[in-house]
Amino acid sequence: MKAAVIRKFGGPEVLRYEDVETPRPRSGHILIKILAAGVNRLDHYLREGSVTQDVSFPHVLGSDAVGEVADIGEGVERFEIGDRVVPVPGYPTEEEDYDVSPLALAPSWRLTGMGTWGTYAQFIEVPARWTLKDESGLTPEELATLPTVMPTGVRAVRVVGEVKEGDRVLITAGSSGTGSLAIQVAKALGAEVATTVRDDVKGELAETLGADLVINTRRENLVERVRQWTDGRGVDVAVDYLGGDFVAQSIDAVKPRGIVVVAGFVAGDEATFKLRSFFFPQKELRGTMSGDVADYQWGIDQVRAGHIRPVLDRALPLREAAEAHRLIAGNQVKGNLVLLPWAA
Ligand SMILES: NC(=O)c1ccc[n+]([C@@H]2O[C@H](COP(=O)([O-])OP(=O)(O)OC[C@H]3O[C@@H](n4cnc5c(N)ncnc54)[C@H](OP(=O)(O)O)[C@@H]3O)[C@@H](O)[C@H]2O)c1
Repeated sequence: MKAAVIRKFGGPEVLRYEDVETPRPRSGHILIKILAAGVNRLDHYLREGSVTQDVSFPHVLGSDAVGEVADIGEGVERFEIGDRVVPVPGYPTEEEDYDVSPLALAPSWRLTGMGTWGTYAQFIEVPARWTLKDESGLTPEELATLPTVMPTGVRAVRVVGEVKEGDRVLITAGSSGTGSLAIQVAKALGAEVATTVRDDVKGELAETLGADLVINTRRENLVERVRQWTDGRGVDVAVDYLGGDFVAQSIDAVKPRGIVVVAGFVAGDEATFKLRSFFFPQKELRGTMSGDVADYQWGIDQVRAGHIRPVLDRALPLREAAEAHRLIAGNQVKGNLVLLPWAA
């Protein structure tokens, strides 16, 4: 089969379109013919070796896929050849961890494309237990944008952020893959949403997704704009995908006893903030990573109800995986990118 393979850490050019051996499904596993594979910023970090060096080469990146069952291993009864499926991007490998929630805290949890070969390929072998039948009604390109960002966004906003109807919420990085989905989750919950961008064209996207206030942080002060918008009170919840200096700003932007959910580190993995402006007003800082199958399914119900839509920037042939990573590295993506393993 064809795959986008890396043999060392480095720039986007280390992604090579090559022939590799097609996997065969072991007992309890299925082989999926991948119709579309999603690209996440994490793939870019993994490729450059900045989040972990614990990768054995050659390696295939990618956590997200939509495909059809192409072969079935021994003992698997739930699937038939040709079923449209979505593998869960991160799952526990040990049975005693299957019911851990949040799932990503299971000791044996692993992410496809990190601990194992990923989805930038024509086929992937996955555990049947951690594969979902697709009932979204979306095209493969659209659906491939969602396996990571949907559970992530639903968990961050609805579960960890506890956003509810009537809340005012700040979501940073409104045009990012994660942020564009999180805005829609908050709107589906009946909240009003402020978001950030650094580019007005990306701001237009955030508005079409329902953002009520778009702050261009290149020329506007985030905290002042949020205070104006909330009559000086601050938002109920902030969900921050940017990290770095944005953590302190998110803390300042929430009301007393407000919740700040930290979910990313695009702008930096370290944050400094004033303790007194955090604990005097009794604010809460919470972390979140990934999401559970129930979070994904809640989101897919919202898609079917017309409240959430995938934000597909563009789909590129798998052979252009390096170009996809250049676009991510250059912050030139609005929403999500997808790779098509069978496109010429
Ligand atoms: N917690 C979780 O479960 C989870 C899951 C998935 C991803 N993540 C994390 O969430 C973050 C976002 O991932 P993603 O895939 O959504 O990213 P993405 O689609 O690549 O978008 C990131 C956006 O951040 C903005 N940006 C880049 N550098 C910036 C800077 N220095 N200051 C301010 N804005 C900047 C850019 O938009 P503008 O050009 O408009 O500024 C860029 O488009 C990453 O850290 C990722 O690891 C977390």
